[in-house]
Amino acid sequence: MALNVELLESSFAQIKVNSLEVTKQFYTVLFTDYPEVQPLFANTNMEKQRKQLFQSLVFTVNNLGKPDVLSSALRGLGTRHTQYGVLPQHYPMVGSSLLKTFEVSLGTAWTSDVQQAWTEAYEVVTQLMLEGADCSPESLILTGE
Ligand code: HEM
Repeated sequence: MALNVELLESSFAQIKVNSLEVTKQFYTVLFTDYPEVQPLFANTNMEKQRKQLFQSLVFTVNNLGKPDVLSSALRGLGTRHTQYGVLPQHYPMVGSSLLKTFEVSLGTAWTSDVQQAWTEAYEVVTQLMLEGADCSPESLILTGE
């Protein structure tokens, strides 16, 4: 799938301006809309988590033009998510919360093209993370996870 790199980059540049607010808002939306995922974060330092989530989004947008780099990083992230107890059905919940948060952050700049670009990007991210989540215990050892 050809992602709309230009639109993802320009909209994310705007989102980045309010990164702290955006990540706080994201978890508020996630836990309000999908309270069933909150127990997964029971022992999580949320301040650190917010930063790590945002850094991974920055990394993803910065590497949209480097599919190899992106694929291996996101597969690894997906493998680790299995260890956090994350299941495939949780991915659409995070996706919908993330897009809802971006919509609020961008206001009138959240056009249907921007929405489509992020929907497609999140699908690709999910696909790669789920590929990584399929790793057998042996391959987890081989990749040093
Ligand atoms: C776009 C998809 C996602 C991205 C970019 C993302 C990003 C991250 C990052 C960067 C971390 C820090 C730890 C690490 O690097 O391994 C993390 C941890 C975590 N994520 Fe995600 N994540 C995504 C999807 C999800 C989903 C669908 C869930 C389930 C609701 C989830 C739940 C968690 C949990 C429970 C942790 C561990 C927190 C801890 O250390 O206690 N994530 N995520």
